[in-house]
Amino acid sequence: MKLLNDLIVKFVKILPESIVYIFAKKYVAGKKLSNAVEVAKKLNEKKIMATIDVLGESVDSEEEALKAKEEILEVLQAIEKNKLDANISIKPTQLGLTVNKDFCYENIKAIVQRAKELNNFVRIDMEDSPYTDLTFEILKKIKAEYDNVGVVVQAYLRRTFTDVENLNKARTNYRLCKGIYIEPEKIAYKDREEVRENYLKILTKMLDEGNYVGIATHDKYLVEKAYELLKEKNIDKSKFEFQMLYGVTEKLRNKIVGDGYKLRVYIPFGEKWYACSVRRLQENPNMAWYITKSIFTRS
Ligand code: FDA
Repeated sequence: MKLLNDLIVKFVKILPESIVYIFAKKYVAGKKLSNAVEVAKKLNEKKIMATIDVLGESVDSEEEALKAKEEILEVLQAIEKNKLDANISIKPTQLGLTVNKDFCYENIKAIVQRAKELNNFVRIDMEDSPYTDLTFEILKKIKAEYDNVGVVVQAYLRRTFTDVENLNKARTNYRLCKGIYIEPEKIAYKDREEVRENYLKILTKMLDEGNYVGIATHDKYLVEKAYELLKEKNIDKSKFEFQMLYGVTEKLRNKIVGDGYKLRVYIPFGEKWYACSVRRLQENPNMAWYITKSIFTRS
């Protein structure tokens, strides 16, 4: 499998963008905001909520970060104009975290402020481990002023249960996912079962202490276990939602909606789709398998 993944990554890099786009478009709404709006509208018609992400990460200059901020503000405006049932997801490094932490905080704060005015919500995605503490630091500062912001935590990190114990003290709106980056074993569980076990332990803690949780997974096992937990603990439907990525496991997604649960789909779009797709493939070649599989199967 590893050899196949490596080959796919090498192959992708020599293919013209137009060809890569044929594969990537299953997972990316398109290059323009209007593409994301159309996808969100179609999902909303099926009673599925959306979270829209302007593709981009790790900018090197304040100028690029400010451009990303403007694009994100336009998304908020488009959600309002089109009356979409959607919120936004943002990445701190896209908004200048590696350039200057305070500058990044100001950018995120401005976005949360605008979202507040529009009665909307901002989800701060979690990136790789060098940024975990900084992301929580920014979250805490913004949460002290605004209630329309939440964060992502990653079940593969050994630290996450303790982070959640601390974040629960101030009630937090979470997205819980497994984690997508390649992290060293010292800080991250590597075994699939260990990650699942930690995911459920963290989910239990979040629900027990009354936090809102976006249960973000395509793993059927975890979805079924979450169902059991939600029933056993009689958790009110206003306290959680399921979340999935655009283009992934649509059959399971439809089942969750059919079962009467809230579901939100993460819709990435933007001019940076190519760089992001290739970077993601390089970071985690297992993704290549998913892309290949999606060409041949209907999930
Ligand atoms: P698992 O990897 O076991 O996947 C279960 C099955 O789902 C696979 O067998 C495959 O069929 C399918 N599948 C999963 N991912 C797929 C993909 N990309 N393409 C095609 N098929 C796929 N991570 C992070 O570090 N920070 C973040 O902020 C976020 N944000 C986020 C938002 C949302 C809404 C989701 C659903 C996920 C994220 N993630 C994330 C990614 C997450 O951490 C994780 O890498 C993926 O969801 C895959 O893990 P699963 O729990 O789906 O299980």
